[in-house]
Amino acid sequence: MKRHAVACSLTLTTAIWTPVDAIAADRAFGEYLSSECVTCHQLSGRYEGIPPIVGWPEPIFIEAMQDYRQKKRDNPIMQTVADRLSPEEIAALAAYFGSLPAVSAK
Ligand code: HEC
Repeated sequence: MKRHAVACSLTLTTAIWTPVDAIAADRAFGEYLSSECVTCHQLSGRYEGIPPIVGWPEPIFIEAMQDYRQKKRDNPIMQTVADRLSPEEIAALAAYFGSLPAVSAK
């Protein structure tokens, strides 16, 4: 009975930690890629003429970047930026920016 419980919790731990490690790696890659973005976008989440991109849910961030790539959003700067990124890079950027706290007001 006791042994079963231990084995069970070990399995659970492994199942939970593997994806977390993968996400952490992505986020580090995203942070590396973000140096280009933060010349325009404020890491603080303030507006400053360019919309903040921190604290977004990852799927929404990815969708916005895909919309620029597919020219559904028509900002030429962001179309160029998004065009150069692979889906993996966009996912990593989404993980990184999404992990930063959003600022509610300016
Ligand atoms: C040269 C300045 C510049 C750079 C560099 C830049 N952006 Fe942008 N970004 C903008 C501007 C300006 C907008 C608003 C465009 C619009 O109105 O559609 C924008 C919009 C966005 C949006 C949508 C924001 C919203 O509120 O809808 C996302 C997401 C985004 N950028 C992500 C990125 C990422 C990720 C990078 C780096 C890979 C990046 N940007 C680099 C200027 C920049």
